[in-house]
Amino acid sequence: MCGIVACVTSKKSDFAADACFKGLEYLEYRGYDSAGISLIVDGKFETKKAVGKLESLKKEIKSKPFSKSNIAAGHTRWATHGSPSIENAHPHISTNGRVALVHNGIIENAAQIKSEKLQNIKLTGNTDTQIVAEYLSMLLEETGNLQNAMTKLVKQIDGSWAFVAMDVKDNSKIVCSRHNSPLVIGKGESENFIASDVIAFVEYTKNAVEIKQDQIAVIEWDNIKLFNFAGEQIDYANQEYKIDWNIDAAKKGGYSSFMEKEIREEPAAVRNTIYGRGSQDGRFGLDRLDFDENYLKLIDKITVVACGTAAHSGYVARFAIEHWCKIPVEVEFAHEFRYRDPIVNSKTLVIAISQSGETMDTLQAVRYAKQQGAKTLAIVNTLGSALDRECDAVLYTYAGREIAVASTKAFIAQITACYILGLYLAEVRGNLFLDEIESKIRELKTLPDKLAKVLQSYDDIKAFAKKEKNTESVLFLGRHIGYPIALEGALKLKEIAYIHSEGFAAGELKHGPIAIIEKGQLVFVIVPPKNDRAEVHSKVLANIEEIISRGGRIVVIAEEGDNSLSEKLEKGGIEKIFFRPKTSILFSAVLDIVPLQIFACSVALFKGLDIDMPRNLAKSVTVE
Ligand code: G6P
Repeated sequence: MCGIVACVTSKKSDFAADACFKGLEYLEYRGYDSAGISLIVDGKFETKKAVGKLESLKKEIKSKPFSKSNIAAGHTRWATHGSPSIENAHPHISTNGRVALVHNGIIENAAQIKSEKLQNIKLTGNTDTQIVAEYLSMLLEETGNLQNAMTKLVKQIDGSWAFVAMDVKDNSKIVCSRHNSPLVIGKGESENFIASDVIAFVEYTKNAVEIKQDQIAVIEWDNIKLFNFAGEQIDYANQEYKIDWNIDAAKKGGYSSFMEKEIREEPAAVRNTIYGRGSQDGRFGLDRLDFDENYLKLIDKITVVACGTAAHSGYVARFAIEHWCKIPVEVEFAHEFRYRDPIVNSKTLVIAISQSGETMDTLQAVRYAKQQGAKTLAIVNTLGSALDRECDAVLYTYAGREIAVASTKAFIAQITACYILGLYLAEVRGNLFLDEIESKIRELKTLPDKLAKVLQSYDDIKAFAKKEKNTESVLFLGRHIGYPIALEGALKLKEIAYIHSEGFAAGELKHGPIAIIEKGQLVFVIVPPKNDRAEVHSKVLANIEEIISRGGRIVVIAEEGDNSLSEKLEKGGIEKIFFRPKTSILFSAVLDIVPLQIFACSVALFKGLDIDMPRNLAKSVTVE
């Protein structure tokens, strides 16, 4: 949430401003309400800001290009405090013109700082960052040194932050600090970078230094120093790493959107998640486990905490883990979890699922669970993220970078990782025989090819979406593992195509939702495999009848060879059937979501919407 990028180079040129702007383009997935860049030019800040997507800032820069400079800091914002406006856009310059500050996070005691420390200063705006910029400049006047001012500041503020600051009187350095929001340094040849995500500078360098929790960094073009909040210098050798992917992963590769590209990458995401850690002797392991494996035999409950799409993968996980491991599994939105006095103790395993590993609600749920004595395990796509570091165990999803705000391949990789975890737990706890586990692993390994087969229907689904682009309301129905898929299908459509959509448990239809079915209402129904849980299959067919008899238009996702619906397709009622390859009900979720993702992506395309950056959303929500 909010993207930061800054650069300091050996000499004055256009590079610093250009690299910042380019970096912001790659970071736009983190927020796009407003953006801005500041440089130091001849002892003064030169700042440009614009409201809306980066396109507006680009026009601003084009109409009046930046001067040459050796230092720049930029920001793309997702508004928390204060509306999206020029006044609230970052960088914030203190009223005395001394400090420029960009910030990702929320400072919770900003109002207190304002009333206690800044009584005599008239601020132009009132956001937390403006207050902090002002206070930082006051501390800078007192200490004469931005690093010392930052060290004093971090001891007095509460909340979450990644700060990048510049002192107009010293254009040789950028001073940053981090608490609960990510920041990473890029080590270049004759320049250094700092950003919320390596994607902002990977084009220029693959050498990165992670700034860890509660550290301050002072960055010059040829020198990097890290300090703790007490002001002591730190040896950061163990924070250095090489970025192992290149900028092509952050480009659309000829597709109309990142979302389409990422949907098409789903077979690879599942394959890499299965094979990423290797499986020996039919056994899966975790990527990291910091406690005795035997502890897993003692747990009597699993609680999954996650938000958004990741939570839906948790609902899928519940079916598989309860079935294979015979442990009760609760799934809860991370933001609700802490506030209801959940029963969590040393026999609970809390699984946090997250693409970014930076979602604040999920992180806070994990911290709460740890305080209660639970062990925590992350299923996460971003190596080195806060969740990765803070959990006691980790299982990575190897979905690769996901840029589109609406999650697709990461979701499928999360479900895959949940299957892997379920089979691993079943093996450790002795819930299944090894040959049973091996047979499930064999089936799991067929999913990438089956996914590739589902993707062959991309154009067919797209053509159907074109016809439906003016539809105002769509319902999604599923039973058993199809229910979370219905929820996810509805979420995808509303978040990127702005169509009112809801997911229901099919059995709940007659308890209320059926009242909104009238002639022409479009309903997607996920039909479970016929030969695995036949009773669920026949119940879903009965639900289809109920909808048809009330004039609803049905689209079905069903298993190849399921001809129970062909008659209705011919005679009317069912508009379309999208077939998926055969698989057992527990694995069907991975295949069933794909047509729904393609439908949402294609409807948004035909409506001419910005698929990758839907309004009001951001990819990683790093505030509570
Ligand atoms: C945001 C994104 C969603 C995502 C959710 C959880 O709301 O827009 O796409 O599912 O955060 O993100 P995480 O990174 O924790 O999976």
